Amino acid sequence: MAKSPAKVILFGEHFVVHGSYAIASSINECFATVEIIDKDDWGAASDYSNVNILYNKEKVKEGGTLHNAALIMLNEFNIKKNMKINVTSNIKGSGLGSSASFCVAFARELNKRFNLGLTDNKVNELAYVGETAFHGTSSGIDNTVCCFGGIIQFRKDKRAGMEGVNIQKIVLKDKINLIVVYTDKSSSTKEMVEKVNAFKERHEEKFAQMIKEVNTIIDDAKYAMQTGAVVELGRLMLQNQKLLEEIGVSTPEVKGILNIAINNGALGGKLTGGGGGGSVILLYDKDTPKYNIISSLEKAGYSCFTTKIG
Ligand code: MEV
Repeated sequence: MAKSPAKVILFGEHFVVHGSYAIASSINECFATVEIIDKDDWGAASDYSNVNILYNKEKVKEGGTLHNAALIMLNEFNIKKNMKINVTSNIKGSGLGSSASFCVAFARELNKRFNLGLTDNKVNELAYVGETAFHGTSSGIDNTVCCFGGIIQFRKDKRAGMEGVNIQKIVLKDKINLIVVYTDKSSSTKEMVEKVNAFKERHEEKFAQMIKEVNTIIDDAKYAMQTGAVVELGRLMLQNQKLLEEIGVSTPEVKGILNIAINNGALGGKLTGGGGGGSVILLYDKDTPKYNIISSLEKAGYSCFTTKIG
């Protein structure tokens, strides 16, 4: 069995697809596991007609995205076997990297069960192949942070695959306290990425200016993380959120969650991942009681969990 954590994007989602920097972190509270079973019964199938996947015990539809992603990944190594794949995941809603987490765990399980001899970089490349089945154009940040863990600064140039990726680990002065909130709406990352593409086409110059702003936010955020300037970090998250609103990937519900949280002591926050609802991250200071923030969100009908990153 192999496992992969979920992720949050702290800064730069969407813009990273177009060449900006981004910062992301793995979170260990949510994860996916993948196990390939019945090895002894494997027949040498000549095609992929008998790859059965159970996702949290439910049969996965053949021809659906998850099934396709698995087949594409098997095809990369020409693995043609009948097999059952058991996937478990407690990654709810959208925004927390459920697809990337599956792809990384599956890549690791394939590596183990078929003795592929893949390094972590190669596992990441294989996971990226699966991610494209889910998201079409993808920067690869989700699979990369799920694969390597910790907090990373990420950038990808225009080269295909994972070759154009530049990753730097960020070492924090203090751990960062986050509350992750689920909105009641899941959205397709693929559709949100397409929406941003359309925005970019309509506003070329403005978008180029926004990428510069994101890169400045990320420089400042990195410094704030390295020096423990948590108030500044919260301000930068809100600044990033404004840009996400401008490109049309936020929702009034995300705004509502942020208002409740800030009024109850959060230092900042933003949507995380693809948006269109999805998940929201909130930053709070270790000396501020988080219970006010959590109980006021729960009163408003939202469920959430806390995590420490770094
Ligand atoms: C999704 O978690 C992050 C996006 O930037 C897409 C990507 O980078 O592939 C929206």
